[in-house]
Amino acid sequence: MLNEKVSALLNDQINKELYSAYLYLDFSNYYKNKGLDGYANWFDIQAKEEMDHAMLFMKYLQNNDHAVTLEAIAKPDKELKEFSDALHASLEHERYVTSLIHHIYETAADVKDYRTMQFLDWFIDEQGEEEKNAMDMITRFELFGTDPKGLYMLDNEYKSRVYSAPSLTLD
Ligand code: FEO
Repeated sequence: MLNEKVSALLNDQINKELYSAYLYLDFSNYYKNKGLDGYANWFDIQAKEEMDHAMLFMKYLQNNDHAVTLEAIAKPDKELKEFSDALHASLEHERYVTSLIHHIYETAADVKDYRTMQFLDWFIDEQGEEEKNAMDMITRFELFGTDPKGLYMLDNEYKSRVYSAPSLTLD
């Protein structure tokens, strides 16, 4: 039986991950509109990964015999004026998600919920990766993206990103 505070945070995280997917679809649409199909592809795949994260939180609650409550997903409201805005917004958002995961972990630790702590280990690693990816995209944009040829090459490279299912699976 999950602790009430822990289960409430896990349930809320489903919404946060779905919002992340929504936000990245918004970024993908922005880039698609600007003719940057590679960046659009990168964020499309990012959105799929966020959906996977939401499903994992949902499955974890279900496997622990806990009811799931789905709430409304907020409208993405980041204003994108320049090509690099979505990249900065993405890093800021991932840092926020990391803080949420850490908060659930701390709450689970407080009540000695070792199972949830172990489940969250994967997400802690994943957040490290996602923050690094977001930082790398900013760095590469600053180095090459302000030159049209450089931007063309970067965009082409991001076209090759392919989706892969998460390494964590829950039955
Ligand atoms: Fe589900 Fe981008 O963290």
